[in-house]
Amino acid sequence: MNILVVGSGGREHAICWKLAQSPKVTELFCAPGNAGIAQVAKCVTVKATDVDGMVSWAKENAIDFVVVAPDDPLALGMVDALEKAGIPAFGPRANAAVIEASKAFSKELMKKYHIPTAKYETFTQLDKALAYIEAQGAPIVVKADGLALGKGVVVAATVDEAKAAAREMMEDKKFGESGSTVVIEECMTGPEVTVLAFADGEHVRPMPSSQDHKRAYDGNQGPNTGGMGAISPPPQYTPDIARRCMDEIFLPTIAALKAEGRPFHGVIYFGLMLTPDGPKVVEYNARFGDPECQAVLSLLDSDLMDIFTACREGMLDQADIRWKNQAACCLVLASGGYPLEYKKGCPISGLDEADRSSVVFHAGTALKDGQIVTNGGRVLGVTALGDTLEQAIANTYAAAKPISFQNMHFRTDIGRAF
Ligand code: AMP
Ligand code: GLY
Repeated sequence: MNILVVGSGGREHAICWKLAQSPKVTELFCAPGNAGIAQVAKCVTVKATDVDGMVSWAKENAIDFVVVAPDDPLALGMVDALEKAGIPAFGPRANAAVIEASKAFSKELMKKYHIPTAKYETFTQLDKALAYIEAQGAPIVVKADGLALGKGVVVAATVDEAKAAAREMMEDKKFGESGSTVVIEECMTGPEVTVLAFADGEHVRPMPSSQDHKRAYDGNQGPNTGGMGAISPPPQYTPDIARRCMDEIFLPTIAALKAEGRPFHGVIYFGLMLTPDGPKVVEYNARFGDPECQAVLSLLDSDLMDIFTACREGMLDQADIRWKNQAACCLVLASGGYPLEYKKGCPISGLDEADRSSVVFHAGTALKDGQIVTNGGRVLGVTALGDTLEQAIANTYAAAKPISFQNMHFRTDIGRAF
């Protein structure tokens, strides 16, 4: 089969790396890809959000199956457009991807189907939002309704901070139209865990649990980022909690989406908080998380192409999905300054040596005059396995040692910060 993967980050590199191992895949393409992805797939210069461009390119190049990995093209209906053109695709249609694209929608769904989550109200008028914040008191969480690159959430310690956040979103339009509706919710406490799960509209098969590290600096300090590293599985996600999550969250969510006429095919991301009252949903995403994907797919022993096909065909209950009985760690090497200002175009050294003892997934890299250079905030995701989590973490940091570029920044406490 000729396969096209849409996207250009570390997540897409991990997907391409795994698909390239499948005997079912004859030619692998990635649009737009990056310098690391170019080592396993042919990169194509179509923007990930260019729905019409992607459909035309896929048609012209006899693509048999498209994997849409990022949130934006999913929300824009790229899977719907591909299907309309007769090209099967992996990923939810826009009417199911809305669980990520609208927090108001997903909160309403959880309320209707009794899926545990933080108590909340939705507002479109600033004065009503401010009055609600005043009445509830702090700490309290203010969220922009739409996609805001993971930055549309403020966990406010004081009433004033919460009000300022609501004003910025609703009055100053800090996140554009994404913030004209806000969700204000109860502040939950407890460790956060990610569970990615394959879904085929009817069945759901959770992958090993994982844990992201969203803050830029050690000790969970500093600004929120796309994710500075991930481990799989985190020790807090016990078999008991996993059973509860399956019964109280995963199965009811897939059933709810089906009942609403929005069957979910693809990877569903459960962002969970293990609160003193039990596991609750913090957020849903309609795709693999990044960098959770890099850690989790490193543990997959089966053919990813077969699983994608099974999701698409409603045969997930029969799919062969096996995982290594090991742990994984992904350490993100970022450009100094990220998530704010940072430099691009810095030459990267030590990649070949690191590749010998780990898999180095590229996130923001480019090829310039035959040299791999930095081309984004998150640059690389060094990923290694171990028989224990401690071993996986030690192997990852050891593997990353030879890599360097100007102003390189990384956290030294991945897997140890909780
Ligand atoms: P989200 O984009 O909804 O995942 O929110 C980003 C981060 O904000 C989460 O990973 C949590 O750390 C935090 N957060 C979101 N909602 C809540 C909540 N209700 N209580 C406490 N923390 C939250
Ligand atoms: N790692 C968090 C996300 O992909 O949304």
